[in-house]
Amino acid sequence: MPNPAPVPDHVPPDLVRDFSYFTGPGMCPMRGGDPQGALADLHDGPPVFYAPNNTYDGYGTWVFVRAEDQRRVLQDAETFSSHRRIFEKALGYDLPTIPLEIDPPEHGAYRSLLNPLLSPKRVMAMEAANRARAAELIDGLAAKGHCEVMTDFAFPFAVGVFLEFLGLPQSRREEFLGWADKQFHGTPEERGEAIRTVIAFMEELVALRRREPAEDFMTFVVEARVGGRAMTDKEAVGMGALLFVAGLDTVAAAIGFDFRYLAENADAQDRLRADPGGIVLAVEELLRMFPTVLMTRIAACDTEFDGIAIKAGDRISCPSMVANRDPAEFPDPNRIDLARENNRHVAFAYGPHRCLGSHLARRELVIAMEEWLKRIPAFRITPGTAPLTYGGHVFGIEDLRLDWEVG
Ligand code: HEM
Repeated sequence: MPNPAPVPDHVPPDLVRDFSYFTGPGMCPMRGGDPQGALADLHDGPPVFYAPNNTYDGYGTWVFVRAEDQRRVLQDAETFSSHRRIFEKALGYDLPTIPLEIDPPEHGAYRSLLNPLLSPKRVMAMEAANRARAAELIDGLAAKGHCEVMTDFAFPFAVGVFLEFLGLPQSRREEFLGWADKQFHGTPEERGEAIRTVIAFMEELVALRRREPAEDFMTFVVEARVGGRAMTDKEAVGMGALLFVAGLDTVAAAIGFDFRYLAENADAQDRLRADPGGIVLAVEELLRMFPTVLMTRIAACDTEFDGIAIKAGDRISCPSMVANRDPAEFPDPNRIDLARENNRHVAFAYGPHRCLGSHLARRELVIAMEEWLKRIPAFRITPGTAPLTYGGHVFGIEDLRLDWEVG
């Protein structure tokens, strides 16, 4: 970890806090941790503060605690830009991550193009295939009486759905799983290598679909026009690579946190098995309690936020896991109420960059829980084991070992 950057002169000393999403208490990989819960006490402190040694690359960041303030930041893309160039910085590769790192108004042109591809109607058209995929994976585990959820179910399921979405054969699942494993869990070198492989794959797919159009996502993208001109190869690759990064780890992690909660709460399993109609609300509540994505921005100009001076170039973070436990928005915010109504959580963000895949993600989580509870009897965390949890840009859970009795 590099040395922390010095605190900039414009940051008042009383707003500086020793805090990190990467190395703070509960954030480092640990057995049986609760990384989202570890941040709940931020609501007892200042609504906005500066964390000098927050990021893995040595930069400090402003942290916005309150849900309402986060919404103000995320809505104001002119002041708080998404132009972070993640791939460019990680790989030295000039690839626009579309639409995540494009600011309005250009962002709107890409979003309106992509929205129909992940609309509720499109997602429902994939429902039967996705449900069959979940059922098949779980059927393969049921008689064993135990499994490691992330590698045996969550990732294979999310990758299968992604292949279905791209219109690629399921026979490529192992190959994609290998890339996903390195991309999300590898060393920094392995992550770089994996994402380069994904980019090379998307480049080939773009070239193929230009030569041989099909009825699939990439054909739609390469044939699309944006702002009155044809889509470039680079833009199409940037979209495909982003979907890989955005849609796999997030869904798998959410399944992991959901299943851990159920494994630790036998009564919740019983209730949802008896009343599967309650699963839709339960999934929302678990998204509220265990969201995984940290929203980050860069100040595009000097500005002031409730009297606090923020300078152009300052980093900003809006942790969904903190907003989702804001007592001003959620009664009894640290209690899980699987039947909570009007659950306006921000697990899928807010504003122009609100998650494009939220309809699909929601159905994946509901299908996963429904099919699991139908096929697997009372399950628990295997005694003597504890899952590995961690914070970061996407909070995660690994090595989640469950067992159950085989009848
Ligand atoms: C539980 C699963 C998921 C969670 C918690 C999640 C969360 C998020 C969040 C918080 C953002 C906003 C990031 C920001 O503003 O900086 C986002 C954006 C995005 N997500 Fe998701 N996501 C999930 C699943 C998916 C899936 C399955 C897909 C696609 C198949 C997807 C595609 C995207 C895309 C393309 C964006 C960028 C949208 C834009 O910039 O306009 N996500 N997601």
